Amino acid sequence: MTVHTPIATRSRGVPGWALGLTVFILLVGGVYLAGNLAGENPSIVAGPSPSGSAGPNVEQLARQAMDRAQCAACHGQDLTGGIGPDLHGIAEGPKSENLEQLAADHPDEWIALWIDGTGPEVEGINRMGMPAFGESLSPEEIQAVVDYLLTLQ
Ligand code: HEC
Repeated sequence: MTVHTPIATRSRGVPGWALGLTVFILLVGGVYLAGNLAGENPSIVAGPSPSGSAGPNVEQLARQAMDRAQCAACHGQDLTGGIGPDLHGIAEGPKSENLEQLAADHPDEWIALWIDGTGPEVEGINRMGMPAFGESLSPEEIQAVVDYLLTLQ
């Protein structure tokens, strides 16, 4: 009489130790991958670094406007003066006596008003040959020019 080993008693499927090893490898791999993403590629999380302040843009806009308007033709290449006054240090007030009253009446706006030259505030002030730029420069350009001039020591 032959003795059959019942099929049901044979061990089936993946042995327990292999399952354990697989779980262990997946865990180690997962931790390694997560560490990689977090540690080696921080830029994915942080994104591009924010670029500088508005300063250089204002200066660029001001320089372009002043090139176009040819301020340097009268105020000198480095704006230290020519036919027109030196524009360095006008944060302290106008060089020209002619503009003192305007500056007293509009301490924060006199430079923009003067460069614009078309407003009622400057009506009647002798421009001494300086053109009014209110038609050829935009208010943003004039403001950029003023912001730039105020940085000149
Ligand atoms: C055609 C010559 C000429 C051009 C071009 C010119 N200016 Fe003038 N600017 C003058 C003269 C002259 C004065 C002096 C006016 C006065 O005494 O009232 C002056 C005065 C000024 C003042 C006042 C200075 C102070 O302290 O008294 C500022 C600011 C100024 N100009 C800015 C500019 C800017 C900015 C530009 C270009 C957008 C420009 N100017 C273009 C001739 C010029």
